Amino acid sequence: MTDLGRSRSNSFLILAIYVVFLICSGESLKTIDHQFGPFNSSYYSIFIVNPPATISNEALQITPDSAGNYTLTNKSGRVLFDRKFRLWDDVRVGSFNTSFLINLFRVNSSLTPGEGLAFVIVPDLEVPTGSSGQYLGLTNSTTDGSRDNHLIAVEFDTLKQDDLDPDSNHIGLDINSVKSNQTVSLSELGFQLAPNGNKFFHVWIHYDGAAKRLDVYMTDEDSRAITKPMPEKPVMISEKFDISQIINRDSYFGFSASTGTNIELNCVLEWNLTVEDLGKKDNKGQTLPLALGLGLSAAVITVAGAGVLAWLLLRRRKSANGPNIPGALKSLPGTPREFSFKELKKATNNFHEGNKLGEGGFGVVYKGVLPPKDGSLEIAVKKFSRDEIKSKDDFLAELTIINRLRHKHLVRLVGWCHKNGMLFLVYDYMPNGSLEDHIFCPPQKLALGWSLRYKVLSGVASALHYLHDEYDQKVLHRDLKASNIMLDVNFNARLGDFGLARAIDEEKTSYAELDGVPGTFGYIAPECLHTGKASSESDIYGFGAVILEVVCGQKPWTKIGDFQLLVDWVWYLHRNGRLLEAVDSRLGGEYEAEEAERLLLLALACSHPMASERPKTKSIFQILSGSIPPPIVPTFKPPFVWPSTGPMNIEGDIADTTPITSSQLGSSWTHRESFAGYSDSSVV
Ligand SMILES: *[C@@H]1O[C@H](CO)[C@@H](O)[C@H](O)[C@H]1NC(C)=O
Ligand SMILES: *[C@@H]1O[C@H](CO)[C@@H](O)[C@H](O)[C@H]1NC(C)=O
Ligand SMILES: *[C@@H]1O[C@H](CO)[C@@H](O)[C@H](O)[C@H]1NC(C)=O
Ligand SMILES: *[C@@H]1O[C@H](CO)[C@@H](O)[C@H](O)[C@H]1NC(C)=O
Ligand SMILES: *[C@@H]1O[C@H](CO)[C@@H](O)[C@H](O)[C@H]1NC(C)=O
Ligand SMILES: *[C@@H]1O[C@H](CO)[C@@H](O)[C@H](O)[C@H]1NC(C)=O
Ligand SMILES: *[C@@H]1O[C@H](CO)[C@@H](O)[C@H](O)[C@H]1NC(C)=O
Ligand SMILES: *[C@@H]1O[C@H](CO)[C@@H](O)[C@H](O)[C@H]1NC(C)=O
Repeated sequence: MTDLGRSRSNSFLILAIYVVFLICSGESLKTIDHQFGPFNSSYYSIFIVNPPATISNEALQITPDSAGNYTLTNKSGRVLFDRKFRLWDDVRVGSFNTSFLINLFRVNSSLTPGEGLAFVIVPDLEVPTGSSGQYLGLTNSTTDGSRDNHLIAVEFDTLKQDDLDPDSNHIGLDINSVKSNQTVSLSELGFQLAPNGNKFFHVWIHYDGAAKRLDVYMTDEDSRAITKPMPEKPVMISEKFDISQIINRDSYFGFSASTGTNIELNCVLEWNLTVEDLGKKDNKGQTLPLALGLGLSAAVITVAGAGVLAWLLLRRRKSANGPNIPGALKSLPGTPREFSFKELKKATNNFHEGNKLGEGGFGVVYKGVLPPKDGSLEIAVKKFSRDEIKSKDDFLAELTIINRLRHKHLVRLVGWCHKNGMLFLVYDYMPNGSLEDHIFCPPQKLALGWSLRYKVLSGVASALHYLHDEYDQKVLHRDLKASNIMLDVNFNARLGDFGLARAIDEEKTSYAELDGVPGTFGYIAPECLHTGKASSESDIYGFGAVILEVVCGQKPWTKIGDFQLLVDWVWYLHRNGRLLEAVDSRLGGEYEAEEAERLLLLALACSHPMASERPKTKSIFQILSGSIPPPIVPTFKPPFVWPSTGPMNIEGDIADTTPITSSQLGSSWTHRESFAGYSDSSVV
């Protein structure tokens, strides 16, 4: 529809995201510089793309573009860079410069375009509801004008609102309101924002924190190639205004836009941002720990030894068959449907190798597409290998529970199929793969940004809370890890594989992966190694391991310095008041220190060797939302003592219940290597 899709010259071939601390000559101004674009889907991991905004046709589509499946009317969206910048502090107000290339495209040249696009500085990541039409994705009829908005925008307005705009072709400085504090009509300057045909606008916005002045410069271009230099004269010079009186100290930069009854495409094709570095506290130390805390090593050895013991115990145990509930699944109302094998075969192109998404402990996952009569839904089909299913009835019994689970942070079960002893589960397809893909990605791919990491963890916590406490029947996940946390289109966490482990075979759950299939060590609570049984506390332990994975960008069993497990290293840093050194270096220091500290303390609390000491899902939820402070974590990791005095009711076939201490277990740690690794790359 536009020429946005056309491939452009190679001048911006390289996706350049860089952070440079440069010393400007003369002023010795320290700045943080970013250069974004041309845009492709890898930007989803560093931008917050609020629906219906998308990234397509090499541009940020702040409102839907014609390639998507959204209607174009009455929409508002935002795309924000996923990090906060400190814009003022007690001493001074910072400066920033930004420049971008935009295109406001009339979809139908015989219709009036609308409504407009804005460059924004905002306190949070939400798009206000009801912000379509005249509100440009900035405010709505309730919040417009409120000082609580803490918002500044430079709007590019293409539709006149009788009560607030001078004309249908202007820029404006918006302070907490779409009623601009200052506007400049563009027609007399020879600019037409959304003309018949195609124009690209190159815009520069400079804010001088010392002079408290904001200048806007503009040129137009006939194509996406930038040919004209920045003009000497601004099109708008603000009155003196102090951003520290308006916006939060730490705020986000980005774009918002809306359509109403009138529509247009609101595209951003390139974006440069330079922000004065007001010198946040330096969080990043490089030294690795050399010393090994005594208590710490004892704890490590305790856990390791317990693992070996449990491993031996587990090997001896025999399974008992569960209840017989044939046909229960079919009779349930609201059940995901049963697919015929033929349907699944067709959907997955006969389980073609090319459709394979991944392979896990339970079997293989294929991508598929249902026929148009079923809505052309994209699905992920999990095929369980035959000999892993001990009891079909067990499996179905478990399915009757999980198929009734409905939560926005769980992968939706679409249906199932059973044929000749083979079982298939059909899930919604998750286009962004697993969390693991975005944390441990190859260097050329962008690792997930900070607020998305936080958002994902909050999502997982909310799913866990639902499974443990909110659903009418307690459901344990049993296998929490980054590879089991899927990401939907908008990078919301979706928990997969919940509740399944036991259904497949009680013995061959995560813990049994110690035997043969390696991979889950580091996620398993120490008491599970004794009991072989999952509990909500062991799920919490797994969640702690996932937090560490996400914040530190390391696998739970990563050996760092002298520390055998990631958690032990983090505990060491905590003891030495250097907790933030644990944060993933791939974030390049771009994270919220307070949030990182909260997450790491929470992770340590969840990793408490004693099950009864771990926080409950409800308080985890409150800690993540910031409504209660993070837990107080002991400076030394407490030792694991068996039997646990925790609330778990363990009936055991464990003969020796005397406490296992580090001295008894000696140096059995070395056995860890035999079950370390991460082969379970199940996709859904
Ligand atoms: C995004 O673009 C960069 C280069 O411009 C390229 O290296 C990268 O593979 C692209 N990512 C995707 C998902 O297309
Ligand atoms: C829109 O829907 C069509 C068919 O329903 C599909 O082929 C296409 O991929 C969808 N486009 C997007 C951007 O989702
Ligand atoms: C868009 O919103 C306006 C104002 O609320 C309404 O009159 C109009 O019907 C809406 N259009 C559509 C297509 O929903
Ligand atoms: C913004 O640009 C102006 C003019 O080029 C320059 O003097 C100023 O130092 C820049 N500010 C920042 C924060 O880079
Ligand atoms: C961004 O900066 C680069 C490097 O200085 C420059 O080539 C490019 O034109 C700039 N883009 C915009 C939109 O200002
Ligand atoms: C543009 O809008 C006019 C008036 O509503 C309509 O007659 C025409 O078919 C539209 N053109 C396109 C290409 O949609
Ligand atoms: C405006 O946005 C606020 C906050 O997002 C929301 O609470 C309120 O309901 C919205 N008002 C309307 C009219 O949509
Ligand atoms: C808007 O501009 C007027 C002067 O034109 C000024 O008095 C007022 O303080 C400004 N509003 C804000 C919120 O800065």
